[in-house]
Amino acid sequence: MRERILAPSILAADFTKLGEQIKEVEEAGAKYLHFDVMDGMFVPSISFGMPVLQSIRKVSDMVYDVHLMIEKPERYIDIFAKYGADIITVHVETIENQEILKKIKSLGVKVGLSLNPETPIETVYPYLEYVDMVLVMTVHPGFGGQKYIDDCTDKVAALFAEIQSRNLEVDIEVDGGISMETIHKPLNAGANVIVAGSAVFTDTPFESAKMLLERIKQ
Ligand code: DX5
Ligand code: ZN
Repeated sequence: MRERILAPSILAADFTKLGEQIKEVEEAGAKYLHFDVMDGMFVPSISFGMPVLQSIRKVSDMVYDVHLMIEKPERYIDIFAKYGADIITVHVETIENQEILKKIKSLGVKVGLSLNPETPIETVYPYLEYVDMVLVMTVHPGFGGQKYIDDCTDKVAALFAEIQSRNLEVDIEVDGGISMETIHKPLNAGANVIVAGSAVFTDTPFESAKMLLERIKQ
């Protein structure tokens, strides 16, 4: 079975103690650190960018999983790679062809491709040969703390079947509304990388990450 991984999203962290909280989730066993970049254009909100990544890169050896919710992402690939991204995910709604995916790979960074809840899953199929991971959004991107959209589980299942039938090694990541109550849905459908923001960065991130990890490893 493909390795199952927890990717805590620091969008929900307490930024007054960001370094400590990253250490807590790392010690709990989370392998990826999910980093949500928003530009106020592709999504309504603005989050954080390169200087924050550069700064927190030093506190941990986790896999830094950078999710670009921005228009014209080709403008920022080099700099996020330079500042320590291990995976760079762009949205299929923001790309014109596979060139950007090849560019990410050429920098020695893993390639992710994401899609919004209303975008049909077939939209990513022509790109599967160029990516290491598909990130299926399970909420509308832009904010943490939203409710898991149940219809997206079917997209995960369809994507999993497509990947299997083409004998590809592509991870399936899900992002949005994941909690102890919803986590079984994408896992059962074939997702193996699980992003969680508000369910991890509670008052007790270590314990919350541990609980989710126990569920993921089952
Ligand atoms: C939403 C972001 C998510 C967000 C998830 O646009 O891509 O990564 O942090 O937050 P929760 O887990 O709270 O739904
Ligand atoms: Zn995200």
